[in-house]
Amino acid sequence: MANSSERGLFSSRLGFLMAATGSAVGLGNIWGFPTNAAQNGGAAFLLLYLLLAFALAWPALMAELLIGRHTRANMVDALRTLAPGPVSRAVASVTGFAGLATASLILAFYAIIAGWMLGHLLAPILEMLGQQSLANWFATDSLELNLLLCLVFSLANLGIIVAGVTDGIEKWSTWLMPALVLLLVVMIVYVLNQPGAMDGVRHFLVPDLERLARPGLAVSAMGQAFFALSLGVGTMLVYGSYISNDANIPRLSAGVALIDTGISILAGLLILPALFIAQAQGVMITAADGSLIAGPDLIFQVLPQLFESMGDGGLVLAALFFGLLTIAALTSAISMLESPVAYAIENTRLQRRGATWLVASLIFAASVVIIVHFDRLFGLVVSLTTEYSQPLLGMMLCIFAGWLWQRHHLLQEIRNGFPDVENHLFWKIWPGYVKFVCPVLIGGVFLYSLR
Ligand code: TRP
Repeated sequence: MANSSERGLFSSRLGFLMAATGSAVGLGNIWGFPTNAAQNGGAAFLLLYLLLAFALAWPALMAELLIGRHTRANMVDALRTLAPGPVSRAVASVTGFAGLATASLILAFYAIIAGWMLGHLLAPILEMLGQQSLANWFATDSLELNLLLCLVFSLANLGIIVAGVTDGIEKWSTWLMPALVLLLVVMIVYVLNQPGAMDGVRHFLVPDLERLARPGLAVSAMGQAFFALSLGVGTMLVYGSYISNDANIPRLSAGVALIDTGISILAGLLILPALFIAQAQGVMITAADGSLIAGPDLIFQVLPQLFESMGDGGLVLAALFFGLLTIAALTSAISMLESPVAYAIENTRLQRRGATWLVASLIFAASVVIIVHFDRLFGLVVSLTTEYSQPLLGMMLCIFAGWLWQRHHLLQEIRNGFPDVENHLFWKIWPGYVKFVCPVLIGGVFLYSLR
């Protein structure tokens, strides 16, 4: 294993905050959350989501960060370090490798979607430059295009991870995250001033409580919360392993959870009004059964039609919008890649450059397989990784933090960077909370979903 002096370290708390919120804020927030909310009773979903994000995902996030900082290792070695005996060490290895595999598979499909965002970013820019036919090519679905865009995105991702923790992840996140927030706010101000926007706001913020009772809603809200905070697959654990010992993890993780949730809500204030503006302009926004159009069709058909109806200004808006999504996807994708790369660096003779090329090539190969067998594989991989694997792994991580980690080590780790923690309510609640409440809640929601 590479010794710890070769490991990276975030140079400041702000750097960590940018990197971790960069990981958390992604397509899950800007695309997944608003459409999920729109389909599941607006503010009713929002309330349930807030509850699960803070009661479940935030404590789990803290567990990952603390395990990472304590062990200063990738997910596999981190869990093995906590395990007291041979059986638990075997469980640690299985859990750790399942985490790496899940992170890799999530990245494999995420990079495909991110490629589409990139294509829709390039199309309006090319159109503004007068390259109409090229622009059309970039906006029309084809096998070659999907492969090309996924490759370009994967190379950008690789380039950042090769540069390492401070010069890659931290530096890029510190640039891209403020840019993302700025773009988001500019677009919201513009969109809210268009006719029809308030119908969208209403749809997002007025709770339809009937929907709340629907089975499966808790499962989607939990899945959404785990996905949004990048939990269960070692991403946050590895970022935690790059935090210095004088940083206050409970406080930092609260910052991450708050910013992440805030951006989801802001994204709702962008996407849903945009949808209803499109309707006011005559674009169909409901499917045949009367439900709101969601998923890829929403982003790649409804919104582009809206942008088109706005003339030249629409082109600028389209470029801004898909630029926003590309940035959000990139800062998330780097965090997914770092999880298996950290393992490869710490367990082979490869240096960061070689390890990154190896892992990124394998993941790109998986993307290619998914692209070629899209109809059969895409939905399957998404649901296996995000609905099953991620919550179960999140539960395992809570079990490791609560049951296998020696209690005095755990408490000592919380004290690092938070010397007067014993006077806070947090100290009395959290250790028991991750031990009992989190695993039971996650397991309960999961079992409920299997009925
Ligand atoms: N949280 C990101 C989003 O909302 C995606 C993400 C990054 C992720 N790293 C992850 C999801 C690890 C699951 C696991 O888009």
